[in-house]
Amino acid sequence: MNEGPVIDENRCNTCGKCIEVCPKDSLTIIDGKITHLSGDCILCSHCYAVCPMEAISFDVELLRNSAFYTFSPDERQKQSISAQDFAAFAMSRRSIRKYRDTPVATEILRDLVEFATTAPSGSNCQNWEFTVIPDRNKVLKLAQNIREFFEKLNAIVRNPFIRYISVLFAGTALIRYYRDHFASVELGLEEAEKGRDLLFHGAPALIIVHSNMEGSLPHEDGQYAAYNIALMAHAMGLGTCFIGYASETLNRSRKIKASVNIPQKNRVLAVLAVGYPDVTYQRFAMRKNYRMNFV
Ligand SMILES: Cc1cc2nc3c(=O)[nH]c(=O)nc-3n(C[C@H](O)[C@H](O)[C@H](O)COP(=O)(O)O)c2cc1C
Repeated sequence: MNEGPVIDENRCNTCGKCIEVCPKDSLTIIDGKITHLSGDCILCSHCYAVCPMEAISFDVELLRNSAFYTFSPDERQKQSISAQDFAAFAMSRRSIRKYRDTPVATEILRDLVEFATTAPSGSNCQNWEFTVIPDRNKVLKLAQNIREFFEKLNAIVRNPFIRYISVLFAGTALIRYYRDHFASVELGLEEAEKGRDLLFHGAPALIIVHSNMEGSLPHEDGQYAAYNIALMAHAMGLGTCFIGYASETLNRSRKIKASVNIPQKNRVLAVLAVGYPDVTYQRFAMRKNYRMNFV
């Protein structure tokens, strides 16, 4: 298998555009021909994407073009969106906490994952994996497992003696949990008893982004992939919500991780509730003031 770009000499006009965009300087001109210096290609395929002569390809075992079931992006339109339209689109995405019962079609869930993988990644590692939970009953099963985890945790943390003694062997983790989350988890558990789903907000599907953490910046990669899902879902008329409580629990409980077939060595980077929103927002949400320095 060729480990890098394959250059078709019959098509190549040696314009050198591929050399200019290669992040690894692994393309050069030797004897008047564009040549790939072996060994250092990160498979970003920028050379392929920039070539005006369609002279560059990659082994199909290594790279493929993204393909979707429910839409087909036209690369000639790639820069046609205005800043105003893009801002309005991105700013109208909301974390949705009320979903209709309508299931999300498998093709749509597949397309969301496919689009996730078009996100940038450190050194182009693309070292992400996805677990899709496509129906409400399975979402409820995971919610129940997570609920049991928190019931046990709250039973421990409720005891002030255990909270303070835990500092000796677990640092301030339990004290911070008690301060920041205990009360809202307690409420979530009470509401769950009444059949209300404050964890996944009634979502009919979940997408879990995880990684074996062998990439160069796996946390960032996973977050960008997950945000791509959130944006594309919004474009499809779907809503999403990042569920931090679920990510945390999956990372802390081997049993719960096993229940959704996520390898134990993988770290969960994002859990996204996905479904059709049962709420309509009339305007953009506001944002906090922030600090910005030009130096
Ligand atoms: C890492 C992360 C974890 C989150 N965890 C939860 C969660 O567990 N439950 C929830 O309802 N919302 C969760 N959210 C949603 C945030 O509360 C939401 O993004 C924020 O309030 C801003 O609202 P917006 O997304 O509509 O702009 C999370 C968001 C992020 C980025």
